[in-house]
Amino acid sequence: MNNIIQDLFGLQNKTAIVTGGAMGIGKGIAGRLALAGASVLIADIVSEQEAAPTLDGIRQQGGKVAYIQADLSNTALLPGIVKAAVDTFGDLDILVNNAGIFKYMPITELNEDLWDKTLNLNLKAVAFLSKAFINTLIEKKHGGKIINISSIDSLKPTGNLAQYDASKGGVRMLTRSFAKEAGKYGITVNDIAPGGVNTPGVQKIAGDNLPKEQLEAMQAQTAQFIQTLPLQRIGEPDDIGNAALFLAGKASDYITGSTIVVDGGLLLM
Ligand SMILES: NC(=O)c1ccc[n+]([C@@H]2O[C@H](COP(=O)([O-])OP(=O)(O)OC[C@H]3O[C@@H](n4cnc5c(N)ncnc54)[C@H](O)[C@@H]3O)[C@@H](O)[C@H]2O)c1
Repeated sequence: MNNIIQDLFGLQNKTAIVTGGAMGIGKGIAGRLALAGASVLIADIVSEQEAAPTLDGIRQQGGKVAYIQADLSNTALLPGIVKAAVDTFGDLDILVNNAGIFKYMPITELNEDLWDKTLNLNLKAVAFLSKAFINTLIEKKHGGKIINISSIDSLKPTGNLAQYDASKGGVRMLTRSFAKEAGKYGITVNDIAPGGVNTPGVQKIAGDNLPKEQLEAMQAQTAQFIQTLPLQRIGEPDDIGNAALFLAGKASDYITGSTIVVDGGLLLM
């Protein structure tokens, strides 16, 4: 490959944290960053054993990956994750805030427990892990990249996901707010808004919460809807990984406070 292109998109000698990287979209992102040469620390709530297929897959491709098990909604653990990346790989350049939960819940049944769990992980953890990351990069006197995974639900609500939409709307504004302040430290902050992506989380929620008839109606609607999407397929984790690769590398150095929508054209519908 041409050296200039390699320089723009390669991540040799870079270190990244990817939250929620054990499966789903986070797995797609961690895989792409590692393939481009980054050393990746995956932080996820599942055990290292449960994350093993992802870790093995990255290593088999020649990638460098380490793992830390942590519930990110516990803010006390967040500085330790940043420290673990630096201790393991010697430096830190990229943070991908991907871990998130989504549970269908009609507004008539919304409860404080689900609200708090969703907001604590999807929004509060993003703020405080980013804070720890930024403070570390300031100490290290070099810039870096924060990539937040928001959702098209931050732009247009799906329905039955009020607590999720509120969290992702928050992530979208947090991205802009942090971008405004962190630019002077050479840190860019952007978000990726995925549309429908085929992940274990999506497969799982299809079975949760909604009454059977409502669920079946929704599944039938979804299948039909995918056919009408401009790109006529559901997204895959690698589709989001590809956008993250762009935002993690030099090619995106003059982009901050922006959203890349990766939705197969869903928002055009
Ligand atoms: N899949 C989609 O269609 C879609 C669409 C838009 C946005 N997103 C966003 O993308 C991100 C990833 O979604 P996904 O579909 O891959 O989900 P997923 O459920 O398939 O994977 C989520 C990962 O996060 C981890 N995780 C969950 N709770 C955690 C916690 N408290 N601490 C640490 N790790 C935790 C899980 O173990 C898992 O590895 C989320 O922020 C989600 O909101 C997904």
